[in-house]
Amino acid sequence: MAENIPEVILNDGVKIPGIGFGTYKMNGAEGVEGMKKAIDLGYRLLDSAFNYENEGAVGEVVRQTLVPREELIVCSKLPGRHHAYAEALNTIQESLYRGGLDYYDLYLIHWPNPRVDLYVEAWQAMIEARKRGYIRSIGVCNFLPEHIDRLVKETGVKPSLNQIELHPFFNQEEMRRYHAEQGIVTESWSPLGRASRLLEDPRIGSIAEAHDKSISQIILRWHVQLGALPIPKASSTEHQLDNLRIFDFELTADEMQVISSLNSGRLWNQDPAVYEEF
Ligand SMILES: NC(=O)c1ccc[n+]([C@@H]2O[C@H](COP(=O)([O-])OP(=O)(O)OC[C@H]3O[C@@H](n4cnc5c(N)ncnc54)[C@H](OP(=O)(O)O)[C@@H]3O)[C@@H](O)[C@H]2O)c1
Repeated sequence: MAENIPEVILNDGVKIPGIGFGTYKMNGAEGVEGMKKAIDLGYRLLDSAFNYENEGAVGEVVRQTLVPREELIVCSKLPGRHHAYAEALNTIQESLYRGGLDYYDLYLIHWPNPRVDLYVEAWQAMIEARKRGYIRSIGVCNFLPEHIDRLVKETGVKPSLNQIELHPFFNQEEMRRYHAEQGIVTESWSPLGRASRLLEDPRIGSIAEAHDKSISQIILRWHVQLGALPIPKASSTEHQLDNLRIFDFELTADEMQVISSLNSGRLWNQDPAVYEEF
């Protein structure tokens, strides 16, 4: 069990670990085994979504692991097709039934889908769900400042966290600054760029050599030093372990700068101002 994972305190007082475990594409019995291994190694935050169709597997992991429920942070997400108030509340309840859980620690609106313009209603449902005890902490994914400002203006409730695409090819400087000003935690999805050419980058490679670490470890450490919370997905035990061993070294300011300078844009052309996901 990795005991050196720092704790992050959200703006509503909920405490979560400084690294999470991505579960996209971890489904069924194989997914359960992979996630259970991750928990054995020390991960405590499982990032799922209604649309990953693995809330059932996540719930099974919660029941099978010896780690007490209150030590786990289980996260799921509301899909874009269920933003209307009553549907959103039903979907959150359905998420609980699918997982066989009494509550989610974290629940996020998956995409704002601004053209449809129902994300404020979805947020009102999330606020109600938290009041009813279905969810401990409510947040968003892929929201731009204009979307978050509107949530706050219309409901008075600020998200605890915004999960956004963030990796060295897309370092999200502006969003990170906005979150820091607002007291919202930045969580990084695809923190390793989904193992694309990012993991072969020679400039990160030289930094990895200097620290006797893997390229993935250097990238994840970069996230942590930026003040972002990465949620790498890894089905292999070797990768899962590799990704946890990032709290025993530090990158210099120059090294941070080299990695940040790789910024070139989104990897999947999913600009939340126009991209939609249902
Ligand atoms: N909110 C959203 O819209 C959104 C969008 C995308 C993703 N997410 C969340 O973010 C999580 C992470 O993102 P992601 O799954 O897209 O990509 P990722 O975590 O950036 O990359 C995962 C890939 O990296 C490989 N990998 C992991 N650790 C490695 C290591 N140490 N060395 C070499 N390769 C390594 C994995 O291989 P193996 O699996 O073979 O070990 C897998 O192919 C998702 O699982 C999901 O929970 C959220």
